[in-house]
Amino acid sequence: MPETNLLAQPLRLPNGSVLRNRLAKSSMSETLATYDNHATEKLIGLYGRWAASGAGLLLTGNVMIDRRALGEPGNVVIEDEADLPILRQWARAATGQGAALWVQLNHPGKQSPKGLNASNLAPSAVPFREDMAAFFETPREATSAEIHDIIRRFGESAAICKKAGFSGVEIHGAHGYLISQFLSPHHNLRTDEWGGSPENRRRFVMEVYHEIRRRVGADFPVGIKLNSADFQRGGFTEEESMATIVALVEAGIDLIEISGGTYEAPAMSGGFHKPQKASTAAREAYFLEFAEKVRAAVKVPLMVTGGFRTADGMNAALRSGALDIVGLARLMAIDPDAPAALLQGRDSPYSVRAITTGIKAVDRMGVMEILWYSRQLARIAKGGNPRPGESGLMAFLKSLLKSQWGTYRTKRMRA
Ligand SMILES: Cc1cc2nc3c(=O)[nH]c(=O)nc-3n(C[C@H](O)[C@H](O)[C@H](O)COP(=O)(O)O)c2cc1C
Repeated sequence: MPETNLLAQPLRLPNGSVLRNRLAKSSMSETLATYDNHATEKLIGLYGRWAASGAGLLLTGNVMIDRRALGEPGNVVIEDEADLPILRQWARAATGQGAALWVQLNHPGKQSPKGLNASNLAPSAVPFREDMAAFFETPREATSAEIHDIIRRFGESAAICKKAGFSGVEIHGAHGYLISQFLSPHHNLRTDEWGGSPENRRRFVMEVYHEIRRRVGADFPVGIKLNSADFQRGGFTEEESMATIVALVEAGIDLIEISGGTYEAPAMSGGFHKPQKASTAAREAYFLEFAEKVRAAVKVPLMVTGGFRTADGMNAALRSGALDIVGLARLMAIDPDAPAALLQGRDSPYSVRAITTGIKAVDRMGVMEILWYSRQLARIAKGGNPRPGESGLMAFLKSLLKSQWGTYRTKRMRA
């Protein structure tokens, strides 16, 4: 057991709000909304259980800002006030138990399965890697009017989240979705003010941030999840990530969560984690070295997500001073009570393992693991317990059927 459990210490954010400790449940797409994208009681059950675990901060799975642009069937969409009553209950499920609950706002851009949306836009019409083209179609280039509309929508969704009683919002700027597509020289080939130089590629995320801030005011926490890098040839680099972070901090962002990767290069779940030095080999988290550089460059609360597993590993990372908040995703899906143990300096009895189907082409894609974990979230949401031993192949096949049914239902409900 660590001498002083730094995980249990409260954290005051620059705007004055206080997190009860340093443990956060990172975003995991729940896909528990209806197929016409309204929040459900299941989310209330899930977040009630996570809040009861004692975690200080819970981030929702990605919530979409436009029902024409879904990342998966069953995403929650927040684009008007029609669902305020259920959104209020969702927020209360966590805040009523002392946890902060922030909504992660997202637009998938091109990273949406074929056939789910009527059409997918992106900064430029860049096709997917060849082996992924069966699942994801080449997007069309967004018009200037569409870009302005998306920026406005981020602000509108954030304002509704505030009204519903959520404790903050997080912009999803990572993992290859629309904001990360704009930042990437590989995906963004535009020659107008939204592309070309790093400043131009950064303009979209800056405008999204400013619009959200304009709508929610100075006191409401606004954070961002950003890639340290895309791990993709010709993609977003650490240098550009650092410059983006500096610009966002100067603009007043309250929290930076560091991650990395895209569907095409899923570094977020450790696929590209190759510690170089012996000192880093002992570390669990994938993006700690980059966090240390960020810490040296800016003063802003930092959260790092990806790879954390043990109370000792988390405490060592906090003690190093490189970060303020430890983000946990997969462990919270197989052990929703993990924070209760970690906050007492004990490890969860469950370990995150690689989930594989045995089908190479499938196992190479990050989405496969996500399907397995979503099934665990659904079990918790219904008041049950996860099944950490569930077979990867069976879960994949069942999820595939569910996803195809979901795509069909989503299209029917849209028609
Ligand atoms: C089922 C599942 C869904 C996820 N959905 C999201 C999401 O909606 N937004 C996001 O930023 N990250 C998402 N992630 C990535 C996690 O937040 C996290 O970055 C990643 O799992 C690494 O952290 P871990 O090692 O603690 O699991 C998801 C991960 C899983 C397993």
